[in-house]
Amino acid sequence: MNDSIERILFTEEEIKEATAKVASEISRDYKDAEGTTVLLCILKGSLVFCSDLMRKLDFPTELEFMKVSSYGSGTISSGQLNITLDISRKDLSDINIIIVEDIIDTGITLSRIHDMLVKRGAKSVKTVALLNNPARRGTPYEPDYSGLFMPNEFVVGYGLDYNEKFRDLPYIGVLKPEIYKR
Ligand code: IMP
Ligand code: MG
Repeated sequence: MNDSIERILFTEEEIKEATAKVASEISRDYKDAEGTTVLLCILKGSLVFCSDLMRKLDFPTELEFMKVSSYGSGTISSGQLNITLDISRKDLSDINIIIVEDIIDTGITLSRIHDMLVKRGAKSVKTVALLNNPARRGTPYEPDYSGLFMPNEFVVGYGLDYNEKFRDLPYIGVLKPEIYKR
């Protein structure tokens, strides 16, 4: 295990099972959907989850990316949401969008992106989060699909970072406090 990790919260196997679970829920709900379905991967944290999820869905999807920043640095959310990379498509009227997030925490990111895409005229907008940290929710928003509910900890791995590090870990773990108190 990585020296900076205090303990593993979710193993590779648990992540795989949770991904398969949400993939089968999504596949069931979208099997008869009309139009094009786009997975909207929220960079950078959702890259790993999105990549695994899209290969588990049993219907065809297309891929878009959006990059937003709500965290300046470290472990505390700033409450602000800036779009630093936007999707390239203009006409969303025939597009079912599934926003793919690594984690829902305060709910600001998912609720704001969701509302924005509805306003832009998407045919439908749903959200999936691999991790759900309900204790931190400031905005009353729940994703349509949640992989794993977690205790109120700051976690890294499987795409999630602390100051850009630890995204490459194959599991999700809790950082040793001395790493972020330094
Ligand atoms: P929200 O807008 O507060 O729901 O936060 C969502 C975003 O904050 C995620 O996309 C992550 O980038 C980041 N985030 C929230 N909690 C954690 C965590 O425990 N570890 C790493 N990143 C996190
Ligand atoms: Mg993120």
